[in-house]
Parts: sequence; C-alpha cells; structure tokens
Amino acid sequence: MGSISDTLAIKENGVRDSLFSRLSPTPADEPFAVNGAYIQDTYPDKVNLGIGVYRTSDGSPWPLRVVEEAEKQLYQASDVSRHEYLTIQGDREFLRLASNLVFGFDQEKQAQAEENKSRVVSIQTVSGTGANRLGAELLTRNLRPGCVWVPDPTWANHHTIWELAGVERKSYPYYDSATKSFDFEGTFRTLSSANTNDVVILHACAHNPTGADPTKEQWKMLAELCKTKGLIPFFDLAYQGFASGNLEQDAWAIRYFFNYNPRLEFCVAQSFSKNFGLYGQRVGALHVVTSTISEEVSQNLLSNLCHLVRGEYSMAPRGGSEIVRTVLGNETLKEKWYEDLVTMSERIRQMRQALFDELIRLQTPGDWTHILKQIGMFTYVGLSEEQVSKIRSKHHIYMLKSGRISISGLNESNVKYVAKGIDDVVR
Ligand SMILES: Cc1ncc(COP(=O)(O)O)c(C=O)c1O
Repeated sequence: MGSISDTLAIKENGVRDSLFSRLSPTPADEPFAVNGAYIQDTYPDKVNLGIGVYRTSDGSPWPLRVVEEAEKQLYQASDVSRHEYLTIQGDREFLRLASNLVFGFDQEKQAQAEENKSRVVSIQTVSGTGANRLGAELLTRNLRPGCVWVPDPTWANHHTIWELAGVERKSYPYYDSATKSFDFEGTFRTLSSANTNDVVILHACAHNPTGADPTKEQWKMLAELCKTKGLIPFFDLAYQGFASGNLEQDAWAIRYFFNYNPRLEFCVAQSFSKNFGLYGQRVGALHVVTSTISEEVSQNLLSNLCHLVRGEYSMAPRGGSEIVRTVLGNETLKEKWYEDLVTMSERIRQMRQALFDELIRLQTPGDWTHILKQIGMFTYVGLSEEQVSKIRSKHHIYMLKSGRISISGLNESNVKYVAKGIDDVVR
C-alpha cells in the first residue's frame, strides 16, 4: 500500500498538496471561543460571563496575596537548583502536601495516616487537565474499561480527554432542569445499568457547568452503587476550597469514598488553578487510590504512571508547584491561603445574592432560587440557547450557549446591567 503522499494531487505549478490538506477542522473549545469574541467586542459595557477564571470586584485577575508572598520567598532563597529538572514523578514534598489536602491525612492519628497514605500513589501533572488525561490513559491501557460514564452536562474537556483515550463515552443524566438541581434518581437509575470495570466521572464539588452537587446522603448511595456494581470512580477535583471556602467540606465526597468499607479503588484529578489562582502555571496531581496495601502494587502503579509521563512530557513544570509547596508547608502562609480562599468564595456568594436580589426586584418571570442554591464559580442561569444568543447580540453579555455563567464575571458595577439583560430576554 502506498503512503498518503503518493496519493496527493500535484498542483499546476508542480507543488504537491500538503500532507495535512486532508485534515478536517476540530470543534472549537467553547469557553475560549466565547472569550475571544468578548475580547473583539468594542462595546464599552460588555460583560464576560464565559470564561471560568476568578475576577475581583473591578473585573481584574487576582494574584493571591499568599502566592505573591511565596513567590518573593522563593526568589529571595536564590536556590541554584531552582531551574533543574524535577523527577519524573514530580516534587515529592509537593505531592505529600497535595495528597494531605485531598484526603486529610494530616488530621488523622499517625498510625492510621501511615496506613491510609500507603493506599495512595500520587504523581505531579500538568494541572487538572493533565491529571484527567493521565488517569484516562492509565485506566484505558491497564484496565480496559468497557466505557466511561460522564455526567450530562459536564466540563466539555472530559469528552475530549476520553475520546482521545479511545474509550466509548456514555452519559448519565446529571441535571434536572425542572428542579434546577442534581438529578439523583436519573443518575442512580442510569448507573445501575453500568457494567463492572466501567469508569464513572464524578465532580467532587462545585459541578461544572451547573453548580449543582449531590447531598451527602446521595454521595453515600453513589459510593455503595460503585461498590456493588464494581465501577471505577474518577473524581475531578478542580475547586477544593474555592467552592465553599472550606477545604474539608469540598473534599467530603472523596474522603467518604476513601473510608468506604469495603474499600473502593479510584482516581482523583487535583487542580490548583482555581484555588491558588495559578491558571497558567499548570499545577496539579493525579492520586490513584488502591484497595490493598502492597508495596509491590504501589511501585508498579507508580512506574506505569512515570512511564506514561516520561513518554508524554518527561515531567510536570516546577514553577507553580514550588509556590504551592511553599504555602502548604508553612503554617503562617497556609492560614493566609485560607483567608484568600474565603475572600474568593465569599465574593462569589455575594454576587449570587446580588444577581438574585436584582432579578427579584425587577420581578423577572421565573424562579431564580437555584442561583443561591448552586455553588462555586458556575451556574446554569436558566436561559435557552436562543435567549443566550439574544443577550449577547443585544446587550453584549457573553456566556456559554447552555446558559452557563461564570459568577466571578459579575461585580457591583455590572450586576444590575446583567440582571436587566436577563429580564429583557426572558420576558
Ligand atoms: C471540572 C473541571 N475539571 C478540570 C479543570 C481543569 O483545569 P486546569 O487544567 O486548569 O487545572 C477545570 C477547569 O475549568 C474544570 O472546571
């Protein structure tokens, strides 16, 4: 059989078509496309509710105070090895602190903590996306799951990541648009038909895009279902501390699954983009929880993860993880970080309240209480695709076509304008 180049047409000037001329375009990533359109818009009162990044009350990015302090300390330390390679696994002290944050080992009695820690294999990743991707690759190559169950709707990149892994994707109905909350019944019913060894994607807190989370009782039933059906839970943890301002609360589901008896085995993709404001630094970790405590199993697991990372990008970058390690390894800085988390989550909570109050004041038709009940950066505000298109063309307010808005794009100066725009398009 000839190669692709043999079959390419030769143009009149004798130049052969590009080897890549048969590539078809891929779908654009919606949040980045919406952000691009917002930037191009010259309207002075335009509002960006599309992209999932934190913004201050004047609409600016916010380098966390504690991050700036850690950066200064790192700079002043002038460590000559600061630009050296990390190990393939990454920065081990960073990983120890990162896994403590997820699983709460530092709050347990020492013997218990040691036993629990030996159930977790951790590796540094290129942020949360990289952790999702690496986990997908690990599971696909080694466990060959029949399919992956993704919530409908979900963070769009889950689809891309598992498509690239070559695993069939099936959806479970996550959102009940009538009650504007998590569809537990639909989820439970659908996942009851899943097969042993299927992977289930679970958002640990502050579900993106809906902001609707399961209750503790529902999480408990989901853990039991995963155990009885032999499913492999895969937690995506992108908003710990950012969602509620409380690290324990946001990790509750993961810790419940960890302590479930009989033991569950699962993955956690951890991101530090939102809770440290280190979006561009790409800081994250993948934690794989095993049921057995076996040095051999852990070593083999780690070597497989390292093998995948080495062939992909050798090791994660170190700039951002050093900042996180510096903060988490110092009690004073950690306290300041908690304050920064409260600053961000509280501002988001206040903006939810302000939007809700304004819609009530305008007597906008509909029930808007879900804006207060949902949690985290995002809310499914409840506009149809047509209304989203109208609010963009008429009022220059940008959001995803599903009606997902990023609450952090709201502030005291624009919230009334946004409420008025919503009021206009729903009437
Ligand atoms: C649900 C979810 N998972 C993972 C991520 C990954 O983000 P990052 O790769 O910046 O850590 C995001 C970011 O928006 C997210 O919302």
